[in-house]
Amino acid sequence: MTVHFFNIGIIGAGAMGRGIAQIAAQAGSKVLLLDSFEGAAERGRAAVVGQWQKQVDKGRIDAAQFEDLSSRISAAGQLDELANCELVIEAVVENLEVKRQLFLELEKRVSPSAVLVTNTSSLSVTAIAAVMARPERMAGFHFFNPVPLMKVVEVIAGFKTEPEVCRRLAEYAAQMGHQAVQANDTPGFIVNHAGRGYGTEALRIAGEGVADFATIDRILKDQAGFRLGPFELLDLTALDVSHPVMESIYNQYYQEPRYRPSVITRQRLDAGVLGRKTGEGFYRYEQDKPQVPPEPPAPVVDITPAVWVSPRAARRPELLRLVHALGAQLESGATPSSAAIILVAPLGFDVTTVAAVERLDATRTVGIDLMIDDAATKRRVLATNPATRRDIRDAAHALFARDGKPVSVIRDSGGFVSQRVIATIVNIAADMCQQRVCTPADLDTAVRLGLGYPHGPLAMGDLYGPTNVLEVLFNLQTVYGDPRYRPSPWLRRRGALGLSLSHEEE
Ligand code: NAI
Repeated sequence: MTVHFFNIGIIGAGAMGRGIAQIAAQAGSKVLLLDSFEGAAERGRAAVVGQWQKQVDKGRIDAAQFEDLSSRISAAGQLDELANCELVIEAVVENLEVKRQLFLELEKRVSPSAVLVTNTSSLSVTAIAAVMARPERMAGFHFFNPVPLMKVVEVIAGFKTEPEVCRRLAEYAAQMGHQAVQANDTPGFIVNHAGRGYGTEALRIAGEGVADFATIDRILKDQAGFRLGPFELLDLTALDVSHPVMESIYNQYYQEPRYRPSVITRQRLDAGVLGRKTGEGFYRYEQDKPQVPPEPPAPVVDITPAVWVSPRAARRPELLRLVHALGAQLESGATPSSAAIILVAPLGFDVTTVAAVERLDATRTVGIDLMIDDAATKRRVLATNPATRRDIRDAAHALFARDGKPVSVIRDSGGFVSQRVIATIVNIAADMCQQRVCTPADLDTAVRLGLGYPHGPLAMGDLYGPTNVLEVLFNLQTVYGDPRYRPSPWLRRRGALGLSLSHEEE
């Protein structure tokens, strides 16, 4: 099979340029690496060759393959040397004017049929291409760091990009062992746009004092299956990187409330509390290990009152079975007895609202999050309301911890933690489909590979039920009166009709 682009140039021999050079040579291309900083191109070449040497040491490639790969990459001294390249990938500093200038110069030197791409993560491809004589041959080709391991690349069509250019780039990506996803030129493209929900909603929850950072991380990992909690993730990427991304996407979408950043990260950024790399973020780090505060043990109680479950509880039959299996006495009356623990399981509503609307004794009312099937989670989450008595809270906590499953008790919040975060992620993704940023299939693929979520956001919505997610959002809007929770038309229609969130109209 012949490689789609044989002679390629890569400008910018930093973290990204090197990674792209490596997979391009592995795909069979001949790569010229160029950098404006004296000696950087040669250092970049040597670093890539060093990666292949490691593969030889591990027995993954043999000496002949090493020689072949090493012969495919060389350092260039100036732009003129890229004249014969069929593809040039720009991975220089993230600055619109610098990139524009570079493409202007580049275009004067390469053949008219050469494809020119930018690896920008936050600038508009259209804006970079606007200075070019032939913007139709320019596209975004957005890789993720570290390039050889992150197997997804966004192919971004600028306003004037020819579809054929995107098609060829996608085929070339496959030759590099990467999955291409196609995106329109919109702020954040796919991955950085879809990723807005997780951290921002978790920050809002923390900002309301619903739970501390470690508890929110535990809940999202154990209930919803995220590999890293939102605060662990923010510590890893560091706030000097992630806070500006939050602000940039929010502002590029003209202050769309769904993307509103948090004052928490702004203040921490100002204080220099950036994350793992500064030794302190949402966690403190000792020898690079996060110091996670221990989880409070389940209380020990003498008596467990009988339990009355609201007839309107989500997954009520399952909840009744669970309470029974945990050994509590269940009340079957139309109203609770005077001593019972009153259990509610709302979707989107807070415990306070449910207690008030159902005329329950708030001092004995506790909520449990059952949007996700209890059997499918590794943690239970209970919520009190401001009036809940301590003995009732402790008795409920002890009861639900009886089989050894960890329990988190949080303060009252519409939608608990997982409901809020999942509904926000799903809603943003649905709105991206509505805005035609990309296809539903590419959205889920990009997020799974680019962000490592357990499921793509649309698949996540399908798993928990589009109608449930819609109900959570409607009720969150009522509780908070905040337009950030307004459901996207895409979700509203598919949720109302019981269709899959990936469903595209004929
Ligand atoms: P980097 O700072 O590691 O490397 C940039 C390189 O470009 C440096 O070696 C610098 O000397 C060189 N350079 C700067 N201006 C130049 C010019 N006019 N001509 C030639 N070389 C020039 O940066 P990194 O992280 O590799 O990022 C490069 C691009 O990739 C940026 O647009 C960035 O937004 C984007 N990107 C970065 C990701 C990351 O996680 N680091 C992920 C995805 C995209």
